[in-house]
Amino acid sequence: MTLILALESSCDETAAAVVEDGVRIRSNVIASQIETHRQYGGVFPEVASRMHVEAIHAVVASALEVAAVAPADLDAVAVTHGPGLAGSLLVGVNFAKGLAFGWGKPLLGINHLEGHIYSLWLTEHAPLLRFPVLCMVVSGGHTDLVLMRDHCTYQIMGRTLDDAAGEAFDKVGRLLGLPYPGGPAIEKAAAEGSPSAYSFTRSVMSADHPYDFSFSGIKTAVMRAVQPPPTGKRVRGEESIQAGVTLPNINIADVAASFQAAVVGMLVEKTVNAARDSGATAILLSGGVSANRLLRAQMRERSALPVYYPPLVLCTDNAAMIGAAAYYRYQQGQRDDLNLDVRPMLPLE
Ligand code: KG4
Ligand code: ZN
Repeated sequence: MTLILALESSCDETAAAVVEDGVRIRSNVIASQIETHRQYGGVFPEVASRMHVEAIHAVVASALEVAAVAPADLDAVAVTHGPGLAGSLLVGVNFAKGLAFGWGKPLLGINHLEGHIYSLWLTEHAPLLRFPVLCMVVSGGHTDLVLMRDHCTYQIMGRTLDDAAGEAFDKVGRLLGLPYPGGPAIEKAAAEGSPSAYSFTRSVMSADHPYDFSFSGIKTAVMRAVQPPPTGKRVRGEESIQAGVTLPNINIADVAASFQAAVVGMLVEKTVNAARDSGATAILLSGGVSANRLLRAQMRERSALPVYYPPLVLCTDNAAMIGAAAYYRYQQGQRDDLNLDVRPMLPLE
């Protein structure tokens, strides 16, 4: 049996988990800062890192206690070392280094996106997964289509050229005066609206990069719809987006539903095409935006291949997913030393 303690602090969740053999969650503790960041309309990096410092000790202690595991029982300590906010990553990485050194355990630095992908291996679908699989990692920082031919082997087939899908949800949420994070708030508002009330532009990519995404056009289209520019004046971009604006004559539910439909439509179309063209046996959704019910339903409807996604608690940031990825890295012999550093822009490939 391999027991790994995993830590995650790349953004605004302080998390620790104990994972057995990469498949069984013995504990999964998450201290979320969302309520604090809501007042800023997004993640405030300095506040985030300070809150990680305040929370991490108790979160790790709780993860060990819930798992009924003593430090001596552990085979390794794993930690997200990128991508993410530098100040946030530093807290987890330094805490993990201290634990690994103090307990005399191997240390493993794990890629946050690899963690999101491996959240699928913590579900009941794990025994059904056969490589190659096409993974769509769709979060607040990333929108990547990744072909996985084997464990820990990644080929990026497509990615966003500008905003991540979750980022677009968050920005449009702010524009509509909805609370942070925008994704769940827009999904909720959209339930009362018509997805065909507005036709927001869907970007078309060049033939060389058929699986790349772009969401900034949709975001600007929403901005134009809710804040029509005075005649003769051009909208200058994001600086026009303000939190808590009042939007007279705008049906927020209709805008939310139409925006969600446009983003989901793009995500589904490219993912289904990439999966078909790459010979994948299944589509694996992961990351915060994969919590979206329209995305899940449409992907299942449009894909001839099976579509798998994690339960809600494993869609958004957590440490169990880091423990699952770390198990395969550990099996492959990865060991990091105390020089392990944070990599805010760490690529997956
Ligand atoms: O994976 P995650 O927790 O953090 C990052 O690694 O970024 O993803 C957070 C993102 C946020 O942008 C949030 O708005 C989005 O996931 N999100 C959703 C939903 N739930 C969370 N987007 C659309 N629909 C949802 N239900
Ligand atoms: Zn994430």
